[in-house]
Amino acid sequence: MNKHLHPIHDRFLQRADREHRLMQHSRVLWLTGLSGSGKSTIAQHLERRLYNEGYFPQALDGDNVRAGINNNVDFSDEGRRENIRRIAELSKLYVHSGIITINSFISPTAAIRQMAREIIGETDFIEIYINAPLEVCEARDVKGLYKKARAGEITGFTGIDAPYEPPENPALEIRTDQMSLHDSVRAIFEFIEPVIKYRRG
Ligand code: ADX
Repeated sequence: MNKHLHPIHDRFLQRADREHRLMQHSRVLWLTGLSGSGKSTIAQHLERRLYNEGYFPQALDGDNVRAGINNNVDFSDEGRRENIRRIAELSKLYVHSGIITINSFISPTAAIRQMAREIIGETDFIEIYINAPLEVCEARDVKGLYKKARAGEITGFTGIDAPYEPPENPALEIRTDQMSLHDSVRAIFEFIEPVIKYRRG
């Protein structure tokens, strides 16, 4: 045997090896939408549904990632960009580990989402718009932040005094003011199942 050729078992494991072990095809489900639109709630239930069906998912969201790896970025345009850049790089590692990654980040501008798409790659990036009108998100005000933003205690809050640009051509749109949580999760699950379902070869 030619000594310059490496036997196959010397290669690093490939994504396909990991997908085979996990019996799934990995993707990044990128949930974008206003604060209070329901991204993280849907992600939690979707993660559990996928797990129960035998898949191996991982959910990431603004509140947990910003408490750890991104605890040094703010909500300025630059801070949000760096937040999303790091998350996209992290997600790329996850997806190459064969993991179905569910990201819930406001990711407010088309440019920021385009950056994430380019880092992750067109095929692996699935943009899902979690859409509820601002009035609905504000009325829910789960974290009390809209009230603070209206009172001027928080500045640069998305939807109040910082922009949110809705995706123009998302792979899927979920209207959480018109659909139940259960139906929202089911719609996403049914949409992605054919993509992540393991196909041999
Ligand atoms: S992003 O714009 O950089 O994508 P991310 O999803 O990580 O935002 O974080 C959003 C969460 O941070 C919100 O759900 C809310 O709890 C909190 N938050 C604190 N300040 C702001 C702000 N100025 N704008 C939006 N969300 C904020």
